[in-house]
Amino acid sequence: MIVKSIKLVNFRNHKEYYLECNDETSLILGKNGCGKTSVLEAIYILMRGKSFRAVDSEILKRGQDYYRIELLFYNGDKIIATFDGKTKYFTILDKKTKRLPNKNKYPVILFIPSDLNLISHSPGRRREYFDRVFGQLDNKYTSILNKYEKAIKQRNELLKAESLSKEQLFSWNVLLSNYGVELYHYRTNCIDQFNQRITNLYRSIAENDDNIFINYKTESPPSSEEYLKKLEQSFEKDSYLGHTTFGIHRDDYIFEFNGQPADGSASRGETRSIILAVKFIEAELIHEQTNKKPLILLDDVFSELDETRRKCLIKNFKDHQVIITSVESIND
Ligand SMILES: Nc1ncnc2c1ncn2[C@@H]1O[C@H](COP(=O)(O)OP(=O)(O)O)[C@@H](O)[C@H]1O
Ligand SMILES: [Mg+2]
Repeated sequence: MIVKSIKLVNFRNHKEYYLECNDETSLILGKNGCGKTSVLEAIYILMRGKSFRAVDSEILKRGQDYYRIELLFYNGDKIIATFDGKTKYFTILDKKTKRLPNKNKYPVILFIPSDLNLISHSPGRRREYFDRVFGQLDNKYTSILNKYEKAIKQRNELLKAESLSKEQLFSWNVLLSNYGVELYHYRTNCIDQFNQRITNLYRSIAENDDNIFINYKTESPPSSEEYLKKLEQSFEKDSYLGHTTFGIHRDDYIFEFNGQPADGSASRGETRSIILAVKFIEAELIHEQTNKKPLILLDDVFSELDETRRKCLIKNFKDHQVIITSVESIND
């Protein structure tokens, strides 16, 4: 799917905005605060179903009562999203839906400046990052994750109650152990695939012989019976603290550089090469597993990269549609 144009009404600072895209590379140039990231955000919503940075009430242009965004593809398909201040609707072929149907989602590789800090971010930010990646490889991942998160919320509410018996948690524990183990297997498998490629890709970018490894840190056992046992064992601690202390919601992904945590041992340049490698692997895996070439959105990352890494980025994504935002013009 190749994006032909995007139209925004009352979206962030844009009263009305229209952009025609090139089928290869498009560049959105403009001063800070002129609304470049917002254009990518609108495209992202129409391809993935929701924003990568905010909820709709924050996105709606201040003082307005609705926003409307419209994405037209080169094959003639069109997706519209309308937010009336309360609810968002997607319209596809005159059919309205509250959520973007999975079959209408299209993979997107988003690259924003804060991704360059992925290695030193909090575990929560890293989980969010990889959750988004794995969800694009398989929609089922996201649907299990949503169920897991709902169940955690319910269990935590019970844990805050005055008097609680172990038995009251049983059904939630069973649900959590089933979803938890399924997610554990997804994560293990996906990170394995990253690890099979990351060192070679990194070396091709950085032109050296360092070793890169993503260490998936989890307390999860591989079976749901053991998972259930661990949840039950944490009952006293959990009811004392009022939340669930065991489970895959506490997982982390530690980047290793030559066997050491990369956070602290890899230089700024090396870190940037690792992140580029991660992005390239995302695109490769998505293409291999979904047969779709993801759209590449590069938000203001060129100014953060040196000439060699910029060239590498362009070269690796040359077969994809790429939309770039930048404050300065780019001469490549
Ligand atoms: N809901 C909103 N209504 C009106 N303006 C907004 C809203 N949300 C953000 N803005 C403003 O929109 C501008 C564009 O933001 P952004 O797309 O991040 O710009 P850029 O990426 O070009 O720096 C910012 O100045 C921001 O203050
Ligand atoms: Mg921006």
